[in-house]
Amino acid sequence: METSVAESFRNGIVLITGCTGFLGKILTEKLLRSCPVKNVVVLVRRKKELNANQRVANIYKQKLFDRIRLEKPNFTKYIKVIEGNLEELSLGLSLNDLEWIVDNVNFVFHCAATIKFNEPLDLASKINIQGTENLLALASKMKNLKGFVHVSTAYSHCPRNEIKEEFYKVPVTFTELKNKLVDNVPTSNIIEDWPNTYTFTKAVTENMILTNENRLPISIFRPSIIACTKSEPEPGWIENINGPTGLFSGVMVGFLRTAPNIGSNITDIIPADYTVNALISVMWDTVNRHKQSNGVPLEEPKIYNYVSSVESPLTWGRYIREMHDQYYVAPPLQSMWYGFYIFYTNSTVGSILRFFLHRIPGAFMDLMLILSGKSPKMLRMYSKSESLIDLLSEFSMRQWMFDNRNIRELWQLLSEDDKNEFRFSLKAFDWKSYLETYYHGIRKHILKEDISNVEKALSKNYKNGTVFVTGSIGFLGKLLTEKLLRSCSLKTIALFVKIKDSIQVK
Ligand SMILES: NC(=O)c1ccc[n+]([C@@H]2O[C@H](COP(=O)([O-])OP(=O)(O)OC[C@H]3O[C@@H](n4cnc5c(N)ncnc54)[C@H](OP(=O)(O)O)[C@@H]3O)[C@@H](O)[C@H]2O)c1
Repeated sequence: METSVAESFRNGIVLITGCTGFLGKILTEKLLRSCPVKNVVVLVRRKKELNANQRVANIYKQKLFDRIRLEKPNFTKYIKVIEGNLEELSLGLSLNDLEWIVDNVNFVFHCAATIKFNEPLDLASKINIQGTENLLALASKMKNLKGFVHVSTAYSHCPRNEIKEEFYKVPVTFTELKNKLVDNVPTSNIIEDWPNTYTFTKAVTENMILTNENRLPISIFRPSIIACTKSEPEPGWIENINGPTGLFSGVMVGFLRTAPNIGSNITDIIPADYTVNALISVMWDTVNRHKQSNGVPLEEPKIYNYVSSVESPLTWGRYIREMHDQYYVAPPLQSMWYGFYIFYTNSTVGSILRFFLHRIPGAFMDLMLILSGKSPKMLRMYSKSESLIDLLSEFSMRQWMFDNRNIRELWQLLSEDDKNEFRFSLKAFDWKSYLETYYHGIRKHILKEDISNVEKALSKNYKNGTVFVTGSIGFLGKLLTEKLLRSCSLKTIALFVKIKDSIQVK
């Protein structure tokens, strides 16, 4: 029971699905860097003209793997690539690979999924539900399986307001869903109260796992909104532009200028490295629980809600404000316009703002593109981005009451060494420094801007302008004022200072 998290993987063979995705890459890196595994086996599909090996080789050249390249230069030696596709029968595995997996794999992390909110229901079901069922069938044949963790989402049951670490009813079983798809029943009639096919298929998958006859040592891990890494393998690593990251990137480059007012709502962002640490710890717990039951299948798979809102709630307002504070310190160099936004609460006002702040400038820019012999794209991009904002609005306009008792209890089970190596507790989380890291992570990894261009970007952003600084006698304000005066060709800098009894401002 007291074995450390890393030790539980000693000489083990770990199968990861979704290792080419955002979470899967960070998981692979951390397992290889911190756990004495024998092999990490990655199940990867062929895409376009690249086979699985070629895709994986490209991934391990990425900056995310710089740290492990230094610490364990031969890390790729521990990776075994297997070509497979969740949509295919027997996962599209060759007979050799199938036999090898059955004989050797000890741990399965199932991260692969389609996370597109508006994926057609038949494809989302094929990947998310059928794919998981196929993997469970394979896992049930594994000769020495110690643990299986299925990655779901904290929003799988988003039609509810309160989400505990429990299974909830879904409108259809997987078999009924397949029949409805064959009968061409409209998607909206099938998914009922679910806002999209992603969360719906994740909910049906959870129930399929519950009723699956293969009683496996399995748990379900439900993370909320995964954002950049806090510190590992480097602070601020991000490649995923879904959700808040995509929206803020749009604001930073001056592309998005209006959005619904969600300021006082609680968002539920979690750092990617903490998420991976929690996921690895969940595997450790799963293996231990099943060991303790002496092989007798447990009643129900355990569910772990990995969320921040219970212990360290963060409002959208604070998220946007603190990210924007960093914008003043280091705006991107390649921006279309000065980064600003206007919030609206009324949808009619929203449509008017979108027309003036997105559509008119978009049409103008398209005209310029046409005149310079290029294809127009801005109006198309605005239409796509606004649809994305509308799809996300379900998650930004609403708030959920999560329970994360299992995650909190798991944290208490960890030894001090494990807590240091696999930190995931979000109690009293330092959002201030994290949001600073997050901003600079977007700037570096999404906008591909190097920190060395900050002086140039500040100068471009503020050239001949008048800057109005509030909080100028605070820590950030002083730094900002000094930097603006030193690096930017400003016309005026206006400091807004509150006069206090004992301080006289000149
Ligand atoms: N990102 C978040 O904020 C978030 C939040 C909560 C839960 N989650 C869950 O976390 C997991 C990972 O999410 P992510 O953000 O890493 O997503 P992602 O970046 O889109 O990665 C998805 C992964 O699934 C693989 N995949 C998709 N269809 C496949 C198929 N038919 N066969 C084999 N592999 C397939 C993709 O492979 P290809 O490279 O071949 O496409 C990719 O490796 C998902 O289960 C998601 O529901 C994510």
